[in-house]
Amino acid sequence: MVDIKKILKRMTVREKIGQLSQYNANLFLDTDAMVTGNMDMLVISGEDLKYVGHVLNFKSPAEMRQIQKEHLQNDRNKIPMLFMMDVIHGFRTIYPIPLALGCSFNPDLVTECSRMAAREAVKGGVQVTFTPMVDYVRDARWGRVMESTGEDAYLNSVMGEAQVRAFQGDDLSDKESIAVCVKHFAAYGGAEAGRDYNTVELSEHTLREHYLPAYKVCLDAGAEIIMPSFNTLNGVPATANSWLMKTVLKDEWGFDGIVISDFGAIKELIDHGVAQDGKAAARLAFDNNCNIEMCSAMYFSYLEELIGENVFSMAQLDEAVLKVLDLKKRLGMFDNPYRGADVTDIEITHENREVSRRAAEECAVLLKNNGVLPFKKSTKKLAVIGPFADNHNIIGFWSCNGKNEESVTVADGIKALLPDAEITVIEGCGDEWNDTDTSGFDEAVNAAKASEVVILCLGEPQDYSGEGNSRLELELHKIQLELAKAVIGVNRNTAVLTFSGRPMVLTELEKTAPAILHMWFPGTEGGMAVANLLFGFANPCGKLSMTFPRSTGQCPIYYNHTNIIKYGKPGAHKPYCASYIEHDNLPLYSFGHGLSYSDFAYEELALSKDAMTADESIEVSITVHNTSDIAGKETVMLYMCDMVASTARPVQQLIAFKKIYFEPSERKVIKFTVTEPMLRFWNNNNEYVSEPGEFRLWTGYADHLVLEKKFSLMIGSSDV
Ligand code: BGC
Repeated sequence: MVDIKKILKRMTVREKIGQLSQYNANLFLDTDAMVTGNMDMLVISGEDLKYVGHVLNFKSPAEMRQIQKEHLQNDRNKIPMLFMMDVIHGFRTIYPIPLALGCSFNPDLVTECSRMAAREAVKGGVQVTFTPMVDYVRDARWGRVMESTGEDAYLNSVMGEAQVRAFQGDDLSDKESIAVCVKHFAAYGGAEAGRDYNTVELSEHTLREHYLPAYKVCLDAGAEIIMPSFNTLNGVPATANSWLMKTVLKDEWGFDGIVISDFGAIKELIDHGVAQDGKAAARLAFDNNCNIEMCSAMYFSYLEELIGENVFSMAQLDEAVLKVLDLKKRLGMFDNPYRGADVTDIEITHENREVSRRAAEECAVLLKNNGVLPFKKSTKKLAVIGPFADNHNIIGFWSCNGKNEESVTVADGIKALLPDAEITVIEGCGDEWNDTDTSGFDEAVNAAKASEVVILCLGEPQDYSGEGNSRLELELHKIQLELAKAVIGVNRNTAVLTFSGRPMVLTELEKTAPAILHMWFPGTEGGMAVANLLFGFANPCGKLSMTFPRSTGQCPIYYNHTNIIKYGKPGAHKPYCASYIEHDNLPLYSFGHGLSYSDFAYEELALSKDAMTADESIEVSITVHNTSDIAGKETVMLYMCDMVASTARPVQQLIAFKKIYFEPSERKVIKFTVTEPMLRFWNNNNEYVSEPGEFRLWTGYADHLVLEKKFSLMIGSSDV
């Protein structure tokens, strides 16, 4: 058994600093592996390279093996490197983007997908993934909303925890598990105006209520590593923010694991204007417990000097290095530095395609259906039209080792499902926001006229979301709207599929489209999932994890806002009124919206009692009836509102959900238990308490709540 303390004893200072440094694979070999930041900031001497303890973003297990082999030949201490990667929604087999996974409201599905990704990643030579990203999001202009599970802290926590447990397993030495790095701490999703990397200004109250909980849940679930975010939080960049990194993370939450900077974020402390030079940047980051520097070289350049000047002690350096060596040891790297890395590239298996397809089916959200869907299985002549009709680029941003060309397109999926049908596939127009070429319209309209049904495939390109991809306008592109009008104008038997990495504004489309099925970016098996969903071989059951605005001007928009005072009638242009002049405050589709081919009637919400004390609980029974003859899944949600409290409370707040399968005509009673901790919030003294008083409960979904019941909390934790 390796003795890491013994190794530490013989290490030089530069060797130790190497264990706190991570660089891209292309510093070690000639590769076109992805680079997820600006490499220009990286100046490192060849001598130091041999001490580097961690690599990110390499291309294949062969590359991993080569880098590790050469490193071990040069390292007198024989400390294996750790290989990290952004396994965000699949490694080789790509499943739907995280925002879509949120719509599944199914943590078991998330577990299944993450386990699959972990197994592939191990074979691919990865030991740490920069997942889960649990940034709370409210503004769809921000391109990184695609990496989050949405606008509800509870949903983010449930999904984040599922990912942590699935990737890490019960024991890190298990060869099917990898360690996780939860990110981006904190509140990166609060970027002003939805522009990536922008300032974040949030009250402590809002931070604690909505933005911080999911990170904490992931750490409590055992996440090994955390990554501070790029942004300033209330004036101080996260990497140097002592309130965040020391007061909250270390002192309050007791986190003692590894902190890794984001790409170049330590050097960027200079760009933020909080460090005058690299030495000051290194000092700020190290002082705020940042253990590993990703892709800048401030630690290599200045940490030794800072220790020599007694700014930091050798004991502090040793403590950080020991944490790193300990993780390597627990991952089994000293026993086998290649761990599970294969000798050849990983191939997608049939089983993994099945998982990916099921996930895509469960994450799709049926936004509108006037009865046109599902299409008849006997359909003989159909047209698949639009820029996403036969487009392989539907796996989404951050697709790791996934390959676009291996995805099933919509056209491929329909052809596979209906081999005897006559299928015409036409692009009609492009997918860029400024496309104006309408020369494909005539062909599209003629095909639509001549077909029994039309599948119209619209949306924004997959590289419009993800890091650095912020948008000013969320409306479906003008040319696609024109194509939709022309096609639907000649064939009402049209279902529109929408692809995007963020909520879009579909207000105009909604007026004319008979049905809209939002596919997000569904991953490798997207086209097969589409086919099954459109023709009733699968029943849509996704519910929105993020609100779809009616207009971009409503952003940020979210369901769990506080009371709107001076509420005015929709569109009323009256003085002293909180509504917009042009239209209502309400979004087009709220959080929780999502239709099914089944019809679910919510019949009763019953409470076991109408008052409780802090040590009691109330049983909630919700009777749901599938009144249709189609089997399906429904997410039954429980919402709450604390009517009067010392801070204004959300008008609706999701406190529990269960995803349930119903046979045709089946009626079920779904049970939830409400306990006092579920009623807690951050009060006006920044204490996490419950206060006595009246609470309301509902089921249904945001802005469409039903079956209201009231109960009282006799004594809250604030009185104890
Ligand atoms: C992103 C992180 C990512 C890192 C490494 C950065 O640009 O912000 O989310 O984990 O690159 O690829």
